[in-house]
Amino acid sequence: MKTLIIYFSQTGGTKKIAEAIRTGIKSVGAECDLIKIKNVDPSGLRKYDLIGFGTPTFFYREPLNVQRFINNLPEMQNMHAFIFATHGSCLGNTFYYLSEELKEKGFVVIGAFDSYSDSSLQFYPKPMHTYGHPDEIELKEAEEFGKKICRISEKIRQGNLNLIPNFKLIEDTWWAKDSKLLTPKTLRMISPKFQINMEKCTQCMLCQTECPGDAVDISTNPPEIQKEGCIFCWFCEKVCPTGAIEADWSIIRANTKSNLRKYIKLLEEAEKQGKFRPYVDYRKIR
Ligand SMILES: Cc1cc2nc3c(=O)[nH]c(=O)nc-3n(C[C@H](O)[C@H](O)[C@H](O)COP(=O)(O)O)c2cc1C
Repeated sequence: MKTLIIYFSQTGGTKKIAEAIRTGIKSVGAECDLIKIKNVDPSGLRKYDLIGFGTPTFFYREPLNVQRFINNLPEMQNMHAFIFATHGSCLGNTFYYLSEELKEKGFVVIGAFDSYSDSSLQFYPKPMHTYGHPDEIELKEAEEFGKKICRISEKIRQGNLNLIPNFKLIEDTWWAKDSKLLTPKTLRMISPKFQINMEKCTQCMLCQTECPGDAVDISTNPPEIQKEGCIFCWFCEKVCPTGAIEADWSIIRANTKSNLRKYIKLLEEAEKQGKFRPYVDYRKIR
């Protein structure tokens, strides 16, 4: 079996899960290529039997660059796909939306895997409540998932169609309601406006090369940032080594305390169900 894993990862959590799934896939004798979403040539995808799509969760679903990538794929004619995601406290409707978009392109989504991952946003205290994830247990689970997904693909090809999962849209939670309000338009409105301080900028280009939405152009005068395509991940500000990208975080920071309380509540529930293992005493983060 020839498989491919396509992933988007900014801080490395999704990449670790992608690599563990690949280890599992290879251990059952299948081939597995691994490629960053930015480097994928969509015209070369039909040579695979099974394609995995991995993403972080942004704003309770898959990020805008992943949505755009899938929307631009050609029709895939019953190609088997699996999906995986990393997240802080809340996976949200990531699997529902990802699977719906892939199905529209002709994929058959045959399985999903998710993991907690350290989510270090600029305006939250450190270490984050999800510090230490994905941990050894999650990486092992990802490896097992890789083994299992190849067998599932074979069984579905043999006619076991009841193995195809169905992902439901969750609508009755506070985060699902929040998520509905977070459209590209409103994200632009609530996101801090970034500015490049040219006295501090060393033209290292990191903000431009790391931008998942190709929304930075520092060749113009003045340089452009948060252009059309911006996915509001705020990574450019984070990676700038000289602090040349300046932002006013006060509005977002004002909500941090109440948001953190809600996220920790979700983690406490997950901990009770044995789904989350805290490596920091997150009750003290407040
Ligand atoms: C802009 C942004 C939005 C995020 N939204 C969510 C979210 O809705 N739910 C969640 O659990 N984590 C959220 N996170 C945390 C990421 O999903 C988490 O850190 C992810 O594992 C990062 O993956 P990576 O290390 O592969 O980049 C968000 C992170 C960023 C940067």
